[in-house]
Amino acid sequence: MKLKSVLFSLLTASLVSGAAFAQAPIVIKFSHVVSSDTPKGKAAERFKELAEKATKGRVKVEVYANSTLYKDKEELEALQLGAVQMLAPSLAKFGPLGVKEFEVFDLPYIFPAKDVLYAVTEGQIGKDLMKKLEPKGITGLGFWDNGFKVMSANKPLHMPADMKGQKMRIQSSKVLDAQMRALGANPQVLAFSEVYQALQTGVVDGTENPPSNLYTQKMHEVQKHVTITNHGYLGYAVIVNKKFWDGLPADIRGQLDEAMKSATKYANAIAQQENDNALEAVKKSGKTTVYALTPQEKAEWRKALLPVQKEMESRIGKDLISNVNKEAAKLGYK
Ligand code: LMR
Repeated sequence: MKLKSVLFSLLTASLVSGAAFAQAPIVIKFSHVVSSDTPKGKAAERFKELAEKATKGRVKVEVYANSTLYKDKEELEALQLGAVQMLAPSLAKFGPLGVKEFEVFDLPYIFPAKDVLYAVTEGQIGKDLMKKLEPKGITGLGFWDNGFKVMSANKPLHMPADMKGQKMRIQSSKVLDAQMRALGANPQVLAFSEVYQALQTGVVDGTENPPSNLYTQKMHEVQKHVTITNHGYLGYAVIVNKKFWDGLPADIRGQLDEAMKSATKYANAIAQQENDNALEAVKKSGKTTVYALTPQEKAEWRKALLPVQKEMESRIGKDLISNVNKEAAKLGYK
């Protein structure tokens, strides 16, 4: 009798723990460095919602915004080590990983308009770029848009010559370094989470980012002047730890793929409006002067920055740059 009851409790215990085990969700830690109230922040939340719904709770996505878990460089290391499963670093942050080709997105004026960008990210060029991540233990899942960058400082920036001697915070991209040097500025690489304080304390004089990042980090409160230069682009690659991804049950991976496709559409659909709204909000704040370049001034910025495309050919690859330019030509841009 006693033996029977022992066996019975062992059996129930194993059934209960088996059920608990079966129900334990697969956790995806998705870390990023921007505010939740940006195109990337919103798209990450959308992915969470869609992924959890599609997998009926078998997957739990934990989104960590605003560098709460890791800063720029650390997050890539954490992904490779498997401490987080998913990230969406800006395309300017893949150089230190040894994938320099992603810096093609940083070249000044490489995208005359968003349709060229989408032809690149959704076409063969985008696929080939993602493939370069595989040997690093990373799988690329999609490109998320943000927008064209504005330049900010504590002095008016109307002509390229106004940049001379300015200490400018940049992301860890050699193209951005060359871009700032072409303007006579002194580039300084800083993690995104450090930018506000660096601007506030005068460690750097200025920076560049799309308005959505500028506004949500309150950079406009510590920058007296913003110029709508649209001189370069900023977007993201959503990436996942390859071992984790390949090890998922096939049905779950398929559902997550679908959720990512929808989140990507959503990110790309809201990006422009989010940036337009942020620029309006910056103007309304009255804390900084927003300047729109005249056509002559725009031409001067182009003249100063276009040589960076040629200068960076040996780093990024002549063919890659020329293939991007071909996409622009196909769409009728010269
Ligand atoms: C930056 O570091 O300036 C931004 O690109 C951060 C981000 O992820 O948008």
